[in-house]
Amino acid sequence: MKINGTPYRSIWRDAASGEGKIIDQRWLPHELRIVPLHSLADFATAIRDMWVRGAPLIGATAAWGVAEEMARDPSDAALQNAWEVLHDTRPTAINLRWALDAMRATLAPLPPDQRAAAARIRAEAICDEDVEINRRIGANGLTLLREIAARKGGGRVNVLTHCNAGWLATVDWGTATSPVYHAVAEGIDVHVYVDETRPRNQGALLTAWEMNSHGVSHDLIVDNAGGHLMQHGEIDIVITGTDRTTARGDVCNKIGSYLKALAAHANGVPFYVALPSPTIDWTVRDGLAEIPIEERSAHEVTHVQGRDPEGRVTEVQISPDGTGARNPAFDVTPAELVTGLITERGICPATTEGMAALFPEFATAAQ
Ligand code: MRU
Repeated sequence: MKINGTPYRSIWRDAASGEGKIIDQRWLPHELRIVPLHSLADFATAIRDMWVRGAPLIGATAAWGVAEEMARDPSDAALQNAWEVLHDTRPTAINLRWALDAMRATLAPLPPDQRAAAARIRAEAICDEDVEINRRIGANGLTLLREIAARKGGGRVNVLTHCNAGWLATVDWGTATSPVYHAVAEGIDVHVYVDETRPRNQGALLTAWEMNSHGVSHDLIVDNAGGHLMQHGEIDIVITGTDRTTARGDVCNKIGSYLKALAAHANGVPFYVALPSPTIDWTVRDGLAEIPIEERSAHEVTHVQGRDPEGRVTEVQISPDGTGARNPAFDVTPAELVTGLITERGICPATTEGMAALFPEFATAAQ
C-alpha cells in the first residue's frame, strides 16, 4: 500500500544494495524508520522484538532470514540451525513454521552450492504469494460488505477490527483490511472502528495509521467499547485476522478477540475471520488445548509508548511501582462463535467440513 503516495511492501529487497529491508514497526505511527537486516541474528531479533509482527509477515521475514543465512553458509548444519533459531522467536503464529518448512523442503534436497540462489527465489515467492492471497481475501470479503451496503440501501457499512491485521501484518494488503480496501475502491461507504488493542496498541498505532494513510474513514475506540457499540446497532460486521486457526475452525488471535466474538454472538453481529491458508494449522483441532499462547513481558502492560509534546517517541509507566502484571498475548475463539472464514479460495463456515471443502488437499493429508 502507499505511504505519502509511494507504494511500499512491509519487507523488500533494496534494488541498489541488495539488502533485505523492513519497516521497523516499533516507531510507527510517529516515525517511519526503514532498516536493513544483514544476518540470521538480525532477522531473529526483528521477529522476536516485534520490529515486524503479524502472522504472515513473521513467516515472510523468517523465509528471508533463511535466505540470508544460506548466502553466508549453505551447509546442512546452517540450514537446520537457521530453522531452529527462527522457529524459537515467537510461538503462536503458525505461518512461522509454515514458511520455515517451505524453505527447508525447497533447500534440503539441493546441493549446498545451489541453495543461496534457490533460497532467495523461494523467499521472494513466499512474499509474492502472500500479496496475491491477501488480494483474493479482499475480493472474497468484499462480497460481505457489498451485501451489507445493499441491505442498508447504500448506507454506511460499519466494520470493527481488532489488533493490526492490515498490510503491516502481511507483505501487502492485510487480511482483515483487504476487504475494506476493496470496498473503498468500489465506492462503498465503509467506516472502520479500530480497537486500540492493549497492551501494545497495534490498532491505535498501526491500523489507525494505515487507515489514515489510505484515506479510509475510521475511529479509534478503546478495547472495551466494542460491546457497547454492538448493543446499539453501530457495528455491522466484525472482521479480525488470526495467528493460527485449527482444522475445525478454532481461531487464535490477538488477546481480546474472544471477548469481541462473545459480544458479537450476544448481539447477532456477524464475526468473520480473514485468513490466508498458511495460517491454518491442519495438525491441530482443539485450539484451547493445543495452541501455545505467547506470554510476553509484564513491562508491556505496566508501560505505554507515545509521542511527547516535543515530538519524541517516549515511554511512561502507568501502574504503581511493585504491581505485577500478566500478559497473555493471544486468545482462542471457539469455532462456534465464528460466523465464517474469509480465505483466498472463498468464504467457508468455521467447521471441519467447511474448511475441508475449500482445502481438500490439506485436510486429507492431515488426517
Ligand atoms: O503480536 P502480533 O502483533 O504479531 O499479533 C498480530 C495479530 O494478532 C494479528 O491480528 C494476526 O497476526 C493476524 S495478521 C494478518
